[in-house]
Amino acid sequence: MQYTAIRLVKRPEPLITPDLFEIVKLDTPALAEGQLLIRQTHMSLDPAMKGWMSADRGSYIPPVELGAVMRSSGFGEVVESRNARFPVGTRVMGMFGWAEFALGDGTRLNAVSPGIPAEAALCVLALPGVTAWHGLMVLAEPKAGETLLVSGAAGSVGSIAGQLGKIVGLRVIGSAGSREKRDWLTGELGFDAALDYRSDTLKEELAAAAPDGVDIYFENTGGPIQFAAYQRMNAHGRIVVCGMISDYNNPAPAPGPNWLNIIRKRLTIRGFTIPDHWDEVPAMSRKIGEYLLAGKLRYRAHVLHGLESAIDGIHLLFAGGNQGKLMVEL
Ligand SMILES: NC(=O)c1ccc[n+]([C@@H]2O[C@H](COP(=O)([O-])OP(=O)(O)OC[C@H]3O[C@@H](n4cnc5c(N)ncnc54)[C@H](OP(=O)(O)O)[C@@H]3O)[C@@H](O)[C@H]2O)c1
Repeated sequence: MQYTAIRLVKRPEPLITPDLFEIVKLDTPALAEGQLLIRQTHMSLDPAMKGWMSADRGSYIPPVELGAVMRSSGFGEVVESRNARFPVGTRVMGMFGWAEFALGDGTRLNAVSPGIPAEAALCVLALPGVTAWHGLMVLAEPKAGETLLVSGAAGSVGSIAGQLGKIVGLRVIGSAGSREKRDWLTGELGFDAALDYRSDTLKEELAAAAPDGVDIYFENTGGPIQFAAYQRMNAHGRIVVCGMISDYNNPAPAPGPNWLNIIRKRLTIRGFTIPDHWDEVPAMSRKIGEYLLAGKLRYRAHVLHGLESAIDGIHLLFAGGNQGKLMVEL
């Protein structure tokens, strides 16, 4: 049997364009002992893919080799198995790539309970949820009553980080690029305030929204909100640097803030990436799953249709066109 896959054949210069990809037909492989075949039904599109397409070998994960199937995480079902841990019919999440089928050996594969919809699994239990959990609950050490500012707050990671903040008793402020997203944050998600990071009066609006200063800044974007947040940090504040999407398409990164405020305010700034914590993912996923099942976390999926829609669809992330977790239904 044959299936469709998309290979990376060129590097972005610097933008992602359709000629970077080649659509191919591949044969489903015969399984060796211990292997299994997964039919992917939902494929995640993530800002990090821009970095994975580049030639940068100094980052936290090697680039996708030219000619290889583009890397991505996804959700699917085991359709053939010679692995007793994952019998046919098991619903799984893992790194399946831009392809309709994926071959696995059971490593770095997480089974998903039957009651959890595929979209919920990708929106909450997979990368967005564990990233938000690790950044906020582990690294930022939140204490009830503190103020949390999240950039990219209406996105898949930011929306969960903010909701976790509310659950543990923080005052939560988010920044987002559209009125619709900001209304969603303060309306449905219960954020205390939402800011437009493009506003000319961002500094003043942040001061009004965070009258007691900011204790935790969860950084997803960089850009103007970064400077405003940095200036408003309280003594012993924590900045967790999760992502810098405003820089991903820039040939040269924007200059960072001066370090003086780190001394004045005795700040802690921590960068992190989830691939350093793969072994902890199932435990984090279980914890966040408890909040999901208890109805304490809301999510929304922005679903594209058909594998090839990934090629143009990935741009939504960089233009702010996605309303929720961007994914492709295959
Ligand atoms: N460290 C890790 O392990 C890890 C894991 C997952 C994700 N991340 C990072 O977390 C961040 C969010 O990822 P996500 O998957 O949750 O994506 P997302 O927030 O669901 O989607 C990306 C959003 O970024 C915003 N954006 C795009 N360009 C921007 C700009 N120039 N300035 C400000 N905002 C901009 C847009 O929202 P607006 O409409 O609000 O502009 C867009 O919808 C990314 O930086 C990503 O790389 C890191």
